[in-house]
Amino acid sequence: MPVPDSSAVTAALRDLRDPETGRPLGETGQLRVTAAGEAGIAVALGLTTHSAILWKISRARAEELLRAAFPAVPEVTVTVESHERPPGKLGQIGLEAKSVIAVGSGKGGVGKSTIATSIALGLARAGSRTGLLDADVYGPSVPHLLGLSGRPQIDDGKIVPMRLAIGEGSMPVMSMGFLVPPGEAVVWRGPMLHGAITQMLRDTAWGPLDYLVIDMPPGTGDIALTLSQVLPLTGAVVVCTPQDVALLDATKAIAMFRKVNIPVLGMVENMSSFVCPDTGKRYDIFGSGGAKRTAHELEIPFLGEVPIQIPIREHGDAGTTAANYDDPATRPYLEAICERLVGNLAATNAARPPLPSLPVL
Ligand SMILES: Nc1ncnc2c1ncn2[C@@H]1O[C@H](COP(=O)(O)OP(=O)(O)OP(=O)(O)O)[C@@H](O)[C@H]1O
Ligand SMILES: [Mg+2]
Repeated sequence: MPVPDSSAVTAALRDLRDPETGRPLGETGQLRVTAAGEAGIAVALGLTTHSAILWKISRARAEELLRAAFPAVPEVTVTVESHERPPGKLGQIGLEAKSVIAVGSGKGGVGKSTIATSIALGLARAGSRTGLLDADVYGPSVPHLLGLSGRPQIDDGKIVPMRLAIGEGSMPVMSMGFLVPPGEAVVWRGPMLHGAITQMLRDTAWGPLDYLVIDMPPGTGDIALTLSQVLPLTGAVVVCTPQDVALLDATKAIAMFRKVNIPVLGMVENMSSFVCPDTGKRYDIFGSGGAKRTAHELEIPFLGEVPIQIPIREHGDAGTTAANYDDPATRPYLEAICERLVGNLAATNAARPPLPSLPVL
């Protein structure tokens, strides 16, 4: 059994890498051993990522490695210190966000808003500063899904977003649904649409964000084009159901995002199956596994699936979508999608070659 001194602790964590740079934490000064002895081990990890989900995963991995290496030590404490940089201002609109993720599909009613809202909730619950923008100006549904209503105040020339309480904090949410009376149809022409989206992005007092999640309207390329023009998007998540026709639409949506240079971050299969609550029997109502196959064919990451569950629809109708995370039958699916998404984003950063020290001419 190795003596748990500082160098043995560092050696035990040799393979632990920064999820964003891919470099071993021990080699980059991001690992501090604050206590090492028979009675207990304490280490602090300095991570560069803004993803609180990845902090948790790295902490759990470090604990696992230390417990395996020093099974006789009763106390293992791993803390995470964030070494992140403040968010830069994006595009001409000056939005302060580190990652902007759009959620879209080619087809209506596949669960984009439910998935977009759930991704935002998952990131926020883990502790990242997350905002949610409902870019569906035709049929905004985020206010309803989250049970938010009211009219935003204007403060110092900025729209104050509505906020959803999450744990001890809250998540800013902006939607055309807060600005237009419910049930009032708005006919948007191209330039107005562009203006409305730009305004919600630019004139909302979002504050500094780690993530902004954007719920897109179905199908249309207009909003994707507008978004790509006003700010650099990190990328888009495409939601689809397993049916062939929905997959065809998803493929078109992927082509649309690629056309406007928005990277596709992955595909989510929603309504992938139904497990009958009475019998436990599984029914593949819209087929099964189609999105995974399509993602593979199109060389896009598959981020996960969400089965058809009656409580998801009930929570959507009741404005309690956040409660999907309290349901042990639903939560693992949503968390898996968030984990893969942020893991892939960090891995993409890790794979990117380091910036050259001299300008390349
Ligand atoms: N996995 C699921 N299980 C059960 N119901 C679901 C599931 N996902 C979404 N729903 C329900 O399906 C309906 C449509 O979902 P949602 O509004 O998220 O779709 P959308 O793709 O955003 O639609 P639109 O194209 O109109 O914007 C809602 O009533 C929602 O509660
Ligand atoms: Mg929607």
